[in-house]
Amino acid sequence: MKRVITYGTYDLLHEGHINLLRRAKALGDYLIVGVTNDSFDRERGKLNVRNNVLERVEAVKATGIVDEVIIEDYVGQKIDDILKYDIDIFTVGSDWEGKFDYLSEYCEVVYLPRTEGVSSTMLRAENEVLVNIAIVGCGRIAQRFYAEVDKVDAARVVALYDTNREAAARLDESLVVDSLEEAVEAADAVYIATPHNLHYQQAKYALEHGRHVLCETPMVLREGEAEELFAIAKERGVVLLEANKTAFSPAFNHLVTLVKSGLIGDVVGIDASESKLWGEENLKRELDPDMAGGSLYEMGSYPLLPIVRLLGVDYEQIDIYSRMNERGVDVYTRGIVRYKGAIASFQLGLGVKTEGNLVISGTQGYVYVPSPWWKTDYFELRYEDQNRNKKYFYKWDEPGLRYEIQEFVSLIINHRSSSARLTPRQSIAMARVMEQFANRENMFEI
Ligand code: CTP
Repeated sequence: MKRVITYGTYDLLHEGHINLLRRAKALGDYLIVGVTNDSFDRERGKLNVRNNVLERVEAVKATGIVDEVIIEDYVGQKIDDILKYDIDIFTVGSDWEGKFDYLSEYCEVVYLPRTEGVSSTMLRAENEVLVNIAIVGCGRIAQRFYAEVDKVDAARVVALYDTNREAAARLDESLVVDSLEEAVEAADAVYIATPHNLHYQQAKYALEHGRHVLCETPMVLREGEAEELFAIAKERGVVLLEANKTAFSPAFNHLVTLVKSGLIGDVVGIDASESKLWGEENLKRELDPDMAGGSLYEMGSYPLLPIVRLLGVDYEQIDIYSRMNERGVDVYTRGIVRYKGAIASFQLGLGVKTEGNLVISGTQGYVYVPSPWWKTDYFELRYEDQNRNKKYFYKWDEPGLRYEIQEFVSLIINHRSSSARLTPRQSIAMARVMEQFANRENMFEI
């Protein structure tokens, strides 16, 4: 019996795919199809696949041509599969001509004629919903954001606004507008990257005008403001998402899934840190009290993320210890978050350096994520019996903003109001911590 294998994404299954599968089947007696899994596609830069892996597997099965469907998860799997399934022929369409010659060491490699005039990319383009984004606040982070929008097919920037016209013009002179009102008017969605204390008013304005909002983190500094904004978004039927790049990144999300599935037992402790030591001259805005600077406001939502995602938003108490500078902003903050049966701590430094790692301790083992854990491509599960330790590797595409843009755009296109990766309740809980700090509740200066 001749065994044939082929691979593909098979998004929006079309005639080209069906022809290919028929031809592949005709090469032998038994046809196995490897369908790429969603995170593998994302790693390969295919960010805008429409059907998820289950839908794509079902579509391939429904052709009735295929004998077996498997999932392709990782680079190098093809060789493993060829050996494991005792494959005689590996085949793909001629668009891959030459690319898989290295497999001929293991089996015959056949490039089949491709059907002209149809592809998933074309079909996606035909019913493409383009999300038009206005950027409000064109500083450092927005400069990176602007470049990253290109990585997400369904999004484009249509307007740029900054009180300093030059900052906006540096990105694209032709898109510069003169007011927040004009920016909102020009777009379906607004990305807010102004100093933190302006977020609330600007986000509110955009939401009230029916625009989707992606707001830099920390979204707002008061719990009530966060609740109000989410209520407006709900009422207007638009998306409001806090732009926390870690929340939407592949490695972090897999880590959460592994921990939630019990691989380290019950979580009893989380320690997360982040610090920057760039010198005062480079941290002007970050240390400016008039722009809501300081360690907690500037970086707090990163360490709070694993805490609220893994231990929830119903903590019993938070104690905050801060060292303030002469201008009254915290250059170092440590927080202890008490839960029933668990405790978490976070450590933040702007002008103080500390190890920026993440450790999640459980009743059966722990997760260690080395610095910089907030943009990690690697972590380890560790146990008492070291033979059980496991390392996990991923791809992190710098600067990582494409993950939040992708999530934002996909919520809009798929008419979903909130993300499971950073829920409104979690964003509200983070705003509550910022507010507690502002009100000096359980906050101790050291
Ligand atoms: N294929 C084909 N004819 C087409 C499109 C795809 O023969 N018109 C083949 C590819 O060569 C591959 C398989 O179908 O062997 C699965 O390809 P996939 O990448 O899923 O399909 P595309 O439509 O090419 O997707 P995209 O546009 O996202 O690259």
